[in-house]
Amino acid sequence: MPSQIELQLHAQLESRKARSLLRSLVVIPDSSADFSSNDFLGLARCPALGSRFLAELASFPKHTPPLGSKGSRLIDGNSHYAERLEDTIAQFHNAEAALIFNSGFDANVGFFSTVPQPGDVIFYDEYIHASVHDGMKVSRAGIKRAFPHNDVEHLATLIETIRREDRENIHGSSDQGSGSQKSKPRNIFVAVESVYSMDGDTAPLVEIVELLERHDAHLIVDEAHATGVYGTNGRGLVNELGLESRVFARLHTFSKSLASNGAAMVGPKVLREYLVNYARPLIYSTFTSFSNLASVKCAYDMLISGETVPLVEKVRDLVTHFRSNICVPEHMLLPSTSPIQGIVIDGNAKVNALSRELIQAGLNVKAIRFPTVPRGKERVRICFHSHNTMQQVDHLIQIVRRWIQHDLETGAGAGTMVVPNVDTAAVQGAEVDPADAEAICSPATDVAVPASIAGSASAIPPTAATSVPVAPRAAVAPAPSSTLTVSTLSAKTALPFSSKL
Ligand SMILES: Cc1ncc(COP(=O)(O)O)c(C=O)c1O
Repeated sequence: MPSQIELQLHAQLESRKARSLLRSLVVIPDSSADFSSNDFLGLARCPALGSRFLAELASFPKHTPPLGSKGSRLIDGNSHYAERLEDTIAQFHNAEAALIFNSGFDANVGFFSTVPQPGDVIFYDEYIHASVHDGMKVSRAGIKRAFPHNDVEHLATLIETIRREDRENIHGSSDQGSGSQKSKPRNIFVAVESVYSMDGDTAPLVEIVELLERHDAHLIVDEAHATGVYGTNGRGLVNELGLESRVFARLHTFSKSLASNGAAMVGPKVLREYLVNYARPLIYSTFTSFSNLASVKCAYDMLISGETVPLVEKVRDLVTHFRSNICVPEHMLLPSTSPIQGIVIDGNAKVNALSRELIQAGLNVKAIRFPTVPRGKERVRICFHSHNTMQQVDHLIQIVRRWIQHDLETGAGAGTMVVPNVDTAAVQGAEVDPADAEAICSPATDVAVPASIAGSASAIPPTAATSVPVAPRAAVAPAPSSTLTVSTLSAKTALPFSSKL
């Protein structure tokens, strides 16, 4: 007889299932082409990194440092190896100091839960990662408010309001400006990602930095998806834009392009010391193992040596090819130039169906559903990697186009979008959704997929046609083959890996 709590848990899971929201853990078969993971440079299976890693381990035959870190960094877990690695990382990213956390999640929680002081202000992009939300939940900041995605004007209004209140407060002309600091302006922190994980677009960092400098505010840039891909030798987008000395702190995760685990918060020395003293995820958790640090070191060695540069170029070529040839209605293609691309499909059930179809064809592409993204903005998230081939990309293009064509023909209306009616900040934060594809999305189990679709596509010629013949899906008889015309299509050819479209 199940206990009460088991029945309650079961009921909630059934409710998720009914809404096409059930998550489950899946093991992706090795045979499927990876268009999903964040391993943009393919280092996770890179023989050169593997050899470096084994050689690094072999160079410490007597287990110095020990395999396990044996404790929190503040007790037994620290090592000269970790500190040397932090020096290397700080130097590489042109920062005063770096502090390694066990994960990017921990680093964001550690920062946002402790650095803003009582009464301070945090403004964050509405698409910011869930880890920032978790940090802010326990932060002592007096104001924590989202601004619309990449909307610098809106951010400016918010900041100006705070500074006006501060002035009035300090000069005693108003009762406004709550908070404990009556005699000095509040610290303002702004949290953005350089490349957004679900949309693949970049933050307008130059404009944001200029704005913040006018108001003495502090920028924290999460470079999770830019590390290894943007900037000189993969130093990140902040580096690419020459802003390193103008950003308060940056987060470089090791878990995406660097094929390891953990992250470094880079910034001023005093920030490092403060986090060592106050960041609970660092203080109360066993530090990462030596083998992981060795893996991070080897990945950084590859960045430093320039070995990853051709890998970045390969990804860029694939993204250009994809955007030049996908030819779907313009509003369906996310305006991204990064390795993270997306085709917007309205509705969880439909986006699941397209993802299923791609997976059945051997292409691992995940559906990103409401509530991780706003209603009407559901999408398949397509990540490009140095190990993907042009043939795989053509295969993917063909399946997507055929599916959309069928959707249009049957009147299901891939081309008609629902205006998002959801506060995405609330969605991404409050719905407790880790805003990243691999963590949240697996194909739902309640979507029927025509069996006849699997493996039916073959490579199409990689031309940027203005009029694209699209064969109907095998499952759909007897629809004639049809054509998407120029008026409904857009061959987007924006340059990949530039911060602007
Ligand atoms: C933007 C962003 N920040 C932080 C994280 C957390 O990093 P990690 O996977 O190392 O915990 C992620 C990963 O999902 C992310 O996408």
